[in-house]
Formats: sequence, structure tokens, C-alpha cells
Amino acid sequence: MSDQDFSMAFIDTADRLTTLLIHGFPFSSAIWQLQKDDLVNFARVIAPDLRGHGQSDSVGGPYSVKLLADDCVDLMGHLSIAPPFVVNGLSMGGYIAFEIVRRYPEVVGGLVLTSTRAGADSEAGKNGRDDAIKLVDDKGVEAIVEGMLPKLFSPATMASDSEVIEYTKEVMLEASAEGVKGALAAMRDRPDSTEMLSKIEVPTLIIHGAEDKIVPVSEAQAMHEAIPNSRLVVIPDAGHLPNLEQPDTYNDVLIDFLEEVEELMSEDE
Ligand code: MLT
Repeated sequence: MSDQDFSMAFIDTADRLTTLLIHGFPFSSAIWQLQKDDLVNFARVIAPDLRGHGQSDSVGGPYSVKLLADDCVDLMGHLSIAPPFVVNGLSMGGYIAFEIVRRYPEVVGGLVLTSTRAGADSEAGKNGRDDAIKLVDDKGVEAIVEGMLPKLFSPATMASDSEVIEYTKEVMLEASAEGVKGALAAMRDRPDSTEMLSKIEVPTLIIHGAEDKIVPVSEAQAMHEAIPNSRLVVIPDAGHLPNLEQPDTYNDVLIDFLEEVEELMSEDE
């Protein structure tokens, strides 16, 4: 060991703006695989596996978006991450992001809504969740994955990106039956967030695939009209997973937004 005193310069990306990436149903943090490396120069990235998904423990229900939001906020506290941070939720992750905005507005410095909607499930939608829970009991998680997979991607991805499709399938198959049933119940019972849209004050980026078959792009347009400080980016040739289907475009848009939010925050300091 050297006994010379000197002043050592260093880089610590932990002092960057933090972004919390919340995955959708029934994925895991692995769906942010193509964001991690590009974002790391611009933000600290925290991407949890929600309970019962990915590498997190398989925990029995009941689940609610409130519980899942608490899990995410608790993780940030556990990691001693000082708020505010940018919350980015994809689809079900967006439902959880709305819950974080509703209950912990002070931690949200910016909001990214990817492939999501503000409304609650219709009665038919709720019945569909119950049928899906029964399907998991009868036939396992595989049956959910087989039913969902063809609806996830744009025609362009279906035609040319079998690697992304196979990867996504593997990610989904890691979810446990408890996790999948819990998340289905949480989505079924989630509150309607439409009323709160006009009250969201933080900068908001809405990103949506032009060919999303699970959440139509009209939902993104409606959120953009209702959220005052929002921007909408519709990504061509992308379905429900624009971050995996068109990662370069998705990352560019997200990085621009993170830089803007970081600048705004430093002006406020
Ligand atoms: C998701 O991708 O998280 C789900 O498909 C959303 C939903 O079923 O409402």
C-alpha cells in the first residue's frame, strides 16, 4: 500500500439522477436489458423484479398495485436513494407508477409512462382476469405466456426478430404461478387513475408503440391530452414492448427526457 497523500479524482454514477424502471406483466427487470448499458452514462438505473416475477421470491397473494408500489418505494429506501427520482412504468408497471404518484408524490421528479393506460379494467376486463387466474390454476403459467406472446409484438418484430420473441418468452416463463395470479388480481382491482392525470405536475414522457395490440395508442393520446406537462412519442414498428423492439429510438427519447429532468432539478436547487 502507498503512503503518499494525494487527492484522487473519481467518477461515481450513484450521484446521478436515478430512474426506477418498473416492468409489466408477467415480465421482470430482464426486459430492460437493452436500456441498462445505454442509460448508465445518464442515470442510475434501479429495475426491480416485482414479487413473484423474475428472480424475486415467489410470494403468495393477495397482491394489489398499492402493495407493489410499496415494494418499489421500500426498495429505493433500502438502497438509501434520495428522492426525487424518475419513475418509468411499462404497462402494469405504469399502473404501479400511478399508485406511486398518488401515494408518494414527493418521490417523483419525473414520470415515464410506457405502453400503459390510466383507466381501470371494465367489467369484461375483470372477468377476463378471473378467467386468466383459473387458466393458471388449470394449465400453469405456460398457458398465459402462449396466449400473450403473439399479441406483444409489431408485425415487423414478428417477421424479423425471433431472438427478441424467444428472449421475451423465456423472461415470462420465469414468473411463478403465485406471482402471475397475484399480478392479475392486482390489475383487476386497480383504481382508475384518469381523474388524477390533470393534477400530475412533474414532467411526463409518454412512450407507446404504434402497433400496440394490448394497449391501443389512443390510450397514450388520451393521457397526453390530460397531463399538462407531458410529451407523447409514438414509436413506429413497435408493439407493446417498444424498449425491446426499437431500443435505439426508445433509449434516445428516454435519455433526452432524463437529461431535461436532471437540468430542471439542478435549476431548482
Ligand atoms: C402488461 O403488459 O403489463 C399487461 O398486459 C397489462 C394488462 O394486462 O393490463
